[in-house]
Amino acid sequence: MNESCTLVIFGATGNLSQIKLLPALYELEKNEHLASSLRVIGFGRRDWSDAHWREEVRRILTERISGQLETAVVDHLLERLYFVEGDLEDTAGYERLASRLQSDQGFSVNLVFYLAIAPTFYGITAERLAASGLNARQHGWSRLVVEKPFGYDLESAEILDQKLHRHFSENQVYRIDHYLGKSTVQNVLVFRFANLLFEPLWNRNYIDHVQITHAEARGIEGRAGFYDGVGALRDMIQSHLLQMLTLVAMEPPPSLDAEALRDEKVKVLRSIRPIPRQAVHAHAFRAQYRGGQVDAVDLASYLEEPGVDPRSSTETYAALKLYIDNWRWRGVPFYLRTGKRMGATTSLISIRFRHPPQQLFSDTPIEQFRPNWLLLNIQPNECMRLELLVKQPGLTMRTQTERLDASTCSIGRDQIDAYEALILDVLQGDHSLFLRYDEVNYAWRVVDPVLKLWVTERDYIYTYPAGSWGPIEANRLFDKENQDWRNGMDE
Ligand code: BG6
Repeated sequence: MNESCTLVIFGATGNLSQIKLLPALYELEKNEHLASSLRVIGFGRRDWSDAHWREEVRRILTERISGQLETAVVDHLLERLYFVEGDLEDTAGYERLASRLQSDQGFSVNLVFYLAIAPTFYGITAERLAASGLNARQHGWSRLVVEKPFGYDLESAEILDQKLHRHFSENQVYRIDHYLGKSTVQNVLVFRFANLLFEPLWNRNYIDHVQITHAEARGIEGRAGFYDGVGALRDMIQSHLLQMLTLVAMEPPPSLDAEALRDEKVKVLRSIRPIPRQAVHAHAFRAQYRGGQVDAVDLASYLEEPGVDPRSSTETYAALKLYIDNWRWRGVPFYLRTGKRMGATTSLISIRFRHPPQQLFSDTPIEQFRPNWLLLNIQPNECMRLELLVKQPGLTMRTQTERLDASTCSIGRDQIDAYEALILDVLQGDHSLFLRYDEVNYAWRVVDPVLKLWVTERDYIYTYPAGSWGPIEANRLFDKENQDWRNGMDE
């Protein structure tokens, strides 16, 4: 059980809080993971009493929790909730918060500040917290949780980091990449380092290339204000996809200790070959969805989405080819791809092995020599598949692809939401699944040259029909003619 603590949610009435944080707290309450002394303070601009906030949360949970909401659990959670009215920029709210924390309502001296607010307010919030003496405690600790995006590019990330570090030490800051909270993503580590079988093959001698795809059938879902001007490369690749890449490519760390793990991830990011400006088009591709049809339903184009600038050239699809210039991976392309309004919703890591050195079966009627693939499906369901060639039954020497599926592929697993795991880790002070600043910095270095060129090329962007797998022109990233995207476990 975690230490006693007070969790303060800034932006308590906002989207993230409603969609992720409050449902996660409910699940943690239900499974008895919260210390009885934990209190949660919502901080927001509304002039709400504790009682009003509690009723709001009951309403939110009723809407958000799929399945039967357990009234006793909700009641228990609501008893922990308090509300402090305040504007993020105005010192008065922070003073009210500080005095509330000192009141006799049983608030712990240990504090977690969760910034579920627009990133532009991270700096000012950290500053105001410090001015009220809430950043460094004489008794107890205080921690600061920030969401992605951490900055808008390398330079702004640096500035933001300096602002936070003026008042909070690195050890107090928890930078969330919610992909690391997904148990299927953590499973990549277990798969690689708890088994001996693949380790000898996990390198340039045996692997032809690696693909990491995150596709979403949904569009931007009313988030134009955030998304337009950010785009797919910043939104998904700089963070979630590069994190998945580090887990696939890293060396075994000396221990699972947070620093050891993050040191290894940073080494991968530092080894990624920088993309020179003149090579951006050979390494990166972007596109935007136009109108399309799925199951006879018309889907609007990105430019028709409410709130999007009708002349916007923001990419809703981005693909990147990267090389990791180290002993293990030199020469092996890593293809990263993400998109909104794609053919399906899936996150998949696909590893293609090389062909055997001797083409022993080339004189036999084998139709096509298919390479071996290892597929790690992250979502919607957890699945691991190995594709091998076997002989077809019968007299002729023909082959077919045999698919070995892990048992998890057919059993729908009870997925724990990433936020449950991450909130618990913050309460327990475990940094392993949070980003250290150097990780963020090196990830920005990878995508920065691409962003810098794209920003100068605003007059044209490729398009793809909503509901498709993106433009065919993205195939120009492939090194070899026989390489192609895997769009899912079966395709
Ligand atoms: C977020 C992005 O970080 O991750 C969203 O801002 C994206 O655009 C989301 O849809 C994907 O996360 P998940 O957990 O739904 O795969």
